[in-house]
Amino acid sequence: MAQIIDGKAIAQSIHSEIAKDVSDLITNHAQVPGLAVVIVGERKDSQVYVRMKRKACAEVGIKSIDIDLPGDASEKMVLETVLNLNANPQVHGILVQLPLPSHINEERILTAISMEKDVDGFHPLNIGKLAMKGREPMFVPCTPKGCIELLQRSGISVSGKRAVVVGRSNIVGLPVALLLIKLDATVSIVHTRTPDPKNIIREADIIIAAAGQANMIKADWIKPGAAVIDVGTNAVDDPSRKSGYRLVGDVAFEEAKSVAGWISPVPGGVGPMTIAMLLRNTVDSAKRACVEMWC
Ligand code: GUN
Repeated sequence: MAQIIDGKAIAQSIHSEIAKDVSDLITNHAQVPGLAVVIVGERKDSQVYVRMKRKACAEVGIKSIDIDLPGDASEKMVLETVLNLNANPQVHGILVQLPLPSHINEERILTAISMEKDVDGFHPLNIGKLAMKGREPMFVPCTPKGCIELLQRSGISVSGKRAVVVGRSNIVGLPVALLLIKLDATVSIVHTRTPDPKNIIREADIIIAAAGQANMIKADWIKPGAAVIDVGTNAVDDPSRKSGYRLVGDVAFEEAKSVAGWISPVPGGVGPMTIAMLLRNTVDSAKRACVEMWC
């Protein structure tokens, strides 16, 4: 039987560490960490994520600067918002919730965010440094960083292991693969055009599932004893729930847990860690700003 990786509990203890750091920054340096969370439009899922991020800020003492723009906001308006936040010394982190409405060029917006405030780690220079040997990005993207933190805090070593990442998105698949390479794993990326993914996934000591396909990875795709981190958050119909749906991962959890050595559940695995890492990045940014200003 797999050991269940309790992301909620791990994220809770990280929140406590962060709350202590925030309190030290305020007491010793009169610096309140500030995170701007920008949402454009009314996508229900994005609104839920943004609400959770803002609430988490309040819980650890980070000042959340809330900017809600209408779905028909122009690209210029979003760009100006970002540039104002870049110039605001009370803002240490800027997060623009993705996806943006289709009339806005995502790359242009993400590139406009100051590297020093890019707590999502999506600026091309941050991703570029993540990809290069001997370079360190200012920030590592939150969900990938949360996956690695789950492995490390569960005592799972990465160096020399075979890792398979399922999915190649800019937000998770690609950066988590780059992080695993930095940590000396041997990494394969499996995606929609990969023939016979099952046989590649079965080789892995560490599986990071970020395909966005409900229950795709079955028990017989998993090497006995492997560590499985499930990033999927897929809504499936469930008439027994008031909402009419429930969230499931990319891994068929019930059958997989009897084969894997460790497995993170959905919900309660990676999700809470993404938010914890966002708070971590914001506080790290405020600390860096403090060092630069000698405060
Ligand atoms: N949309 C889905 N995940 C993320 C994330 O980690 N950051 C942002 N900005 N948007 C997202």
